[in-house]
Amino acid sequence: MAEETLDLRALPKAEAYRQLEGHVRAVLHGVHDPIAAMATMSALIHHAFGHLWTGFYRVVEPGALLRVGPYQGTVGCLEIAFGRGVCGTAAAEQRSVIVADVSDFPGHITCDARSRSEIVVPIMNGRGALIAVLDIDAAEPGAFDDEDQRGLERMVAWFAEDSA
Ligand code: SME
Repeated sequence: MAEETLDLRALPKAEAYRQLEGHVRAVLHGVHDPIAAMATMSALIHHAFGHLWTGFYRVVEPGALLRVGPYQGTVGCLEIAFGRGVCGTAAAEQRSVIVADVSDFPGHITCDARSRSEIVVPIMNGRGALIAVLDIDAAEPGAFDDEDQRGLERMVAWFAEDSA
């Protein structure tokens, strides 16, 4: 069961995230490796919802630079400066950012021209330090809302509980 990839598109979002979080936690049980967790979460979230791009940008220079980590989708930009684009804004301000229409976001970085909306969620470790952001892009405008933010923030709390 834990090895399966769920397709949760038919469910209401709150229920989809509840099931997905249970699945992620079951697959990662006993694992204490943030990169393995990023790879697993990317695959499970991406296929559960059929997103365009799902992945992580890791903090490689605190306060300055993000570099791509595990992801699913077409090739992503390699590096993003803090403060640039949606990912860099979420990292610099350490808050989740939802963009309903990427053409309305000044400085949006286009990695895949099909991207229409996105959500970026910051990830803290157990000491409260920013270690990465989770970036999800969708081909439809307005794909993400408060329920996505809540569901994803709960899921990435794993990094504060379970990693160094
Ligand atoms: N859209 C992001 C860039 C990363 S890619 O979409 C994979 C941004 O503006 O932060």
